[in-house]
Amino acid sequence: DRFALIMAGGGGTRFWPLSRQNKPKQLLNISGNDIMINDTILRYENIISTENTMIITNRSQAVLLEEILLHNVPRSNVLKEPVAKNTAACILYAALHLKKKHGDCVMAVLPSDHYITDTDAFRDVLEKSCKLAEQTGKLVTIGIKPSFPSTGYGYIKFNKGEADEHEAYEVNEFVEKPNFEKAKQYLQSGEYLWNSGMFIWKTSTIIDSFQRYLPRIYNVMMQFYDSIGTYREEEAVAEVYPNLQNISIDYGILERSTDVVVIPGDFGWNDVGSWDALGGIFLPDDDGNIVKAKHLSVSTKNSIIFGGERLIATIGIDNLIVAETSDALLVCPKDRAQDVKAIVEMLKEKG
Ligand code: GDD
Ligand code: MG
Repeated sequence: DRFALIMAGGGGTRFWPLSRQNKPKQLLNISGNDIMINDTILRYENIISTENTMIITNRSQAVLLEEILLHNVPRSNVLKEPVAKNTAACILYAALHLKKKHGDCVMAVLPSDHYITDTDAFRDVLEKSCKLAEQTGKLVTIGIKPSFPSTGYGYIKFNKGEADEHEAYEVNEFVEKPNFEKAKQYLQSGEYLWNSGMFIWKTSTIIDSFQRYLPRIYNVMMQFYDSIGTYREEEAVAEVYPNLQNISIDYGILERSTDVVVIPGDFGWNDVGSWDALGGIFLPDDDGNIVKAKHLSVSTKNSIIFGGERLIATIGIDNLIVAETSDALLVCPKDRAQDVKAIVEMLKEKG
């Protein structure tokens, strides 16, 4: 059987003031359709059943998530980590859980906060990836053709020879978040794809990889896992789980394993990393503006205007982001969208 594991425990700070500590990106409705995590689940309908959706999040985010999660995802399928310990730990926890409940099965690990324009093309690639993972002991990744030297993504160097019958390529090298110089080289070489952050593999394959490449995490996790349902559970929540090494699956396993393959995908993928990324999701109007607000404008150009109930009026502005909620307002040049993180840090310090 096939399962989807949606990772929904990331903090997300770059959509402030819309995103808040307890309301990260995956719980926001940015597309105008539904919150991002629900869009994610609807996207793989027909390939993996909604009932076979597992969500993993941490205790502090679970309450709000369960309130707004799609109705047909059983609430018992929401796994709660005691604390966020990054993607390696969260994936191992879920893999152990799935294997125990359903035996060896395929799990498609999906981020909860990405946007995809061509759903049909995505489903095609996901179907191929599931088949490949079912039939082999490979770690299947989905690669995206890079369009700029991003330092926020992982890069996959693939063997450009013949693709196999699943349209997959051998991976020669996986490099998580390279520096700018390297990223430029990778882009120019044409030999690399971006890692989309979606992974498909069998539970047995990934558990074996943990034993091999991250044995410390494996051992601590087993200690925690064995305590579940026993009198030791609460103690393990407080004393064992927090000891797990904080490392992402990319650094921990994908950079090290020799069993990684990649299926290239071309489906309008966007990881919606910051306000300016809305430019990749919505078509701008004739003045280059993307407006998701009640808005009055006098010669406003190339700007992103995002708001709620209040009317926003702009005059003679160009290349700005204006994002308003009931209690905060952000005004910032488009090319400084990454710096919203700094505001969030300042707010944290103030408490
Ligand atoms: N449950 C849980 N617990 N989820 C987590 C945790 C955790 O501790 N940490 C992160 N997540 C979730 C996030 O909510 C997100 O959906 C997903 O896991 C990926 O984490 P990010 O923090 O967003 O990773 P990233 O964007 O820096 O990098 C990854 O994604 C890129 C593509 O967007 C890497 O896989 C890169 O290689 C990749 O290019
Ligand atoms: Mg991300």
